[in-house]
Amino acid sequence: MKAVAITRFGERPEVMEVPVPTPGPGQVLVRMYAAGLNPFDWKVTDGLLKDVVPHAFPLVMGNDGAGVIEAVGEGVTELRPGEEVYGQFMSLSTGGGSFAEFAVAKAGSVARAPRGLTLSQAAAVPTASMTAYNLVKEARVDAGQTVLVVGATGGVGQGVVQFADAQGARVVATATADLAPLVRELGADEVIDHTASPVADQVRALHPEGLDVLFDLVQDAGGFEAATDLLRPGGMALTTQGVADVDALAEREVHAVNFQNSASVVLLETLADLLDAERYRVRVDVEVPLDQAAEAVARNRAGLARGKTVIKIAGT
Ligand SMILES: NC(=O)c1ccc[n+]([C@@H]2O[C@H](COP(=O)([O-])OP(=O)(O)OC[C@H]3O[C@@H](n4cnc5c(N)ncnc54)[C@H](OP(=O)(O)O)[C@@H]3O)[C@@H](O)[C@H]2O)c1
Repeated sequence: MKAVAITRFGERPEVMEVPVPTPGPGQVLVRMYAAGLNPFDWKVTDGLLKDVVPHAFPLVMGNDGAGVIEAVGEGVTELRPGEEVYGQFMSLSTGGGSFAEFAVAKAGSVARAPRGLTLSQAAAVPTASMTAYNLVKEARVDAGQTVLVVGATGGVGQGVVQFADAQGARVVATATADLAPLVRELGADEVIDHTASPVADQVRALHPEGLDVLFDLVQDAGGFEAATDLLRPGGMALTTQGVADVDALAEREVHAVNFQNSASVVLLETLADLLDAERYRVRVDVEVPLDQAAEAVARNRAGLARGKTVIKIAGT
């Protein structure tokens, strides 16, 4: 089968022929229709986890995807061949990933695909939307609070804006002028352009009383720390970049969190229900065929992605 893979860390991913994987006990084999791209995918092929878990090569890229179950392994009773599913497929120890014509997933890592979405749209959902949902839950966002989302135009950010808005919060979001209408449509009450002048200055002018929650999805340690100055005493600051000095911030009465996402089938099912009820949406920015995945990865790495990128593998 065709797959986008690397043969060593740091290599540019290429389309290559690799064997179709076999589902083991508790696993399913999925004929992939589409894969979703996340920054995590190229961080992994750069070697982010090389000292943490064993990797098999060739290493097929990609975690998120959607398709149709082709076969089920021993002991799988809740999923059947022919069912449309979406979820996460990355398996570093076996070299498996979602940018491939077939991929194996643990039965506990995929769920029924949202019925109202195409499989391409569904592939854009798992990692970013589960992260956004869990971030807003962890922050216990409540009606009447004011929250800032730095990185609101990305896959995670678009979700955080929607889930925080659904909780009744006042949402301040970063976006360049061209994407300001989009984040407003998703639920942002105020939009600031992070390329125009420092985010902290703009937010302080709008909210001198201080913010309740900061969701920082993109900034480095310096940017994150500067943004925490915008919080009221007792405010909460969450980063997806692992850059929070939790103890130092606690001394300043900021509850900081180096957020690490946890995925689950229950959450995939919850998201599918929200998507089907049109209470949540995911916008696909770019769709490319498998043989252009490497260019799409380069675009994402260069920070040029505006929302989700989907790799189209099969189907209409
Ligand atoms: N810790 C975890 O569990 C976890 C889970 C999921 C994701 N993540 C990480 O979270 C980050 C965001 O993920 P994603 O999927 O949303 O990425 P993404 O889709 O690539 O989005 C990043 C967005 O941030 C914007 N941006 C970049 N620099 C900015 C700045 N200085 N100020 C404001 N906006 C800025 C970009 O828009 P412009 O081009 O307009 O700047 C872009 O739309 C990634 O680093 C990812 O690896 C971590």
